[in-house]
Amino acid sequence: MSKVTVVGAGNVGATCANVLAFNEVADEVVMLDVKEGVSEGKAMDMMQTAQLLGFDTTVVGCTNDYAKTANSDVVVITSGIPRKPGMTREELIGVNAGIVKSVAGNILKYSPDAIIVVISNPMDTMTYLSLKSLGLPKNKIIGMGGALDSSRFKYFLSQALGCNANEVEGMVIGGHGDTTMIPLARFATYKGLPVSNFLSKEQIDEVVKSTMVGGATLTGLLGTSAWYAPGAAGAYVVESIIKNQKKMIPSCVALEGEYGQSDICIGVPAIIGRNGVEKIVEIELNAEEKELFEKSAAAVRKTNDVLAEMNAI
Ligand code: 2OP
Repeated sequence: MSKVTVVGAGNVGATCANVLAFNEVADEVVMLDVKEGVSEGKAMDMMQTAQLLGFDTTVVGCTNDYAKTANSDVVVITSGIPRKPGMTREELIGVNAGIVKSVAGNILKYSPDAIIVVISNPMDTMTYLSLKSLGLPKNKIIGMGGALDSSRFKYFLSQALGCNANEVEGMVIGGHGDTTMIPLARFATYKGLPVSNFLSKEQIDEVVKSTMVGGATLTGLLGTSAWYAPGAAGAYVVESIIKNQKKMIPSCVALEGEYGQSDICIGVPAIIGRNGVEKIVEIELNAEEKELFEKSAAAVRKTNDVLAEMNAI
């Protein structure tokens, strides 16, 4: 029997749980929230779609009752506040660090073997905080930003190419921030052919720019953070773990020397399977990409430093 807990039943958490149930990724999905009745209500609403959509997953909601999350194989953390228009993800650290730390501690008490998938922002720093505060092996903590950013990259590429996004390949590495993302345009392909065969440099630069501010654009339109793609990206990572799919997913993982970095969680391609991070894939970056990666890591470290100033780690 497979069990996934999603902490936080807001827009992102509920979307993630809904995708997990609809795709029958696990036998049981538990949603936990601090707001009385919200996760119970959303779980019941989802269960009332089971017959219509034809899924067999059981979705359970609970208010702050961590006992109900016991023995989860994977726990997704979406807790905390979303950003408002004009805010960066990094500005959320003051509120979200305390919430994520306490959630992670509670989760571990009931599911000591769980693999943790972090969605809360600032995602790279919240992944690092979970790693430091839980003391789990580094393969067990994964941030989902790269899956989300890469999906947005493929969407913008497909728009420029006028094609189906499923026929496009592309990865975004680096931090999950408006200025720290690195869409690897050099490796992006359409039907296996480099996108530079079809798009001009100006068009590719535009795609890269739109990808980097993909979240901010949606926050501007919606008045709050996006949820469909972030929730689905979390579920995509969970599925690769639960089903041991060993997909290569750009993920925020702890580096110990890879890409010339240590003591940091940041987005790089990784094989994600039953053990969480099965392998970090080192691709050869050119001088320009290396420089961008170093700058991105420096910015993520600066946000991580705030954790120490807050005595969070
Ligand atoms: C986003 O990029 C929520 O950080 C998330 O939409």
